[in-house]
Amino acid sequence: MPIVNDLGFIHYVEFASAKSDRETHENPTTLLLLHGTGGNETDLLEMGKQIAPEAAIISPRGKSLDEGVPRYFRRLAEGLFDIEDLKFRANELADFVRAAMRKYNLDPTRVVAVGYSNGANIAAGLLLLRPETLAGAVLFRAMIPLVPENLPDLSEKPIFMAAGESDPIVPKEQAEGLATLLEKCGALVTLHWRTGGAHALTKEEIVLAREWFATNFISFG
Ligand code: MLT
Repeated sequence: MPIVNDLGFIHYVEFASAKSDRETHENPTTLLLLHGTGGNETDLLEMGKQIAPEAAIISPRGKSLDEGVPRYFRRLAEGLFDIEDLKFRANELADFVRAAMRKYNLDPTRVVAVGYSNGANIAAGLLLLRPETLAGAVLFRAMIPLVPENLPDLSEKPIFMAAGESDPIVPKEQAEGLATLLEKCGALVTLHWRTGGAHALTKEEIVLAREWFATNFISFG
């Protein structure tokens, strides 16, 4: 399937193919898939199709290669982020999304991020720094990427978070803190805790994200 190196990012692109989608939604939703550390643009395709089978897909590969594997921004240590790089990369990604929506003739007001781990962290960065980029987001195993000087207006943006109670990479207070921060910005946050859960995802969490997506975006617009 189509993996292209264009608009500054290697990315996978797939247009909404379901006929029913074309019939019911003139402008389908686009999922922006954002992989975890060491992943690539194909990692979350199956998950994305499970969450939103009728959506178009844009899946860029992270461009930060400081650790020798793709990530979306540089970190100084596990959980310790290079904030200047994070800001630069979030803006670069937001510009890419805007250009991709134009190039592929997709609706820029209907982009929903689905991010895992490092991908969830850059998705949270987009929400906090370039909120116009996303209509909503699924954040799997996310942390607080940064606290911006001026909080964005995220009112009415639905956000689904799933966190693991015993995640060795994401401390519980990080997931809670991010949910609180996003709510403070006006977002409608659904936070699901996986009891005893670790960093890896379960099928149940993907099913919950699918239900959340159907409730919030199928009749969107
Ligand atoms: C990050 O660096 O974004 C987080 O520590 C999660 C990860 O390891 O990717």
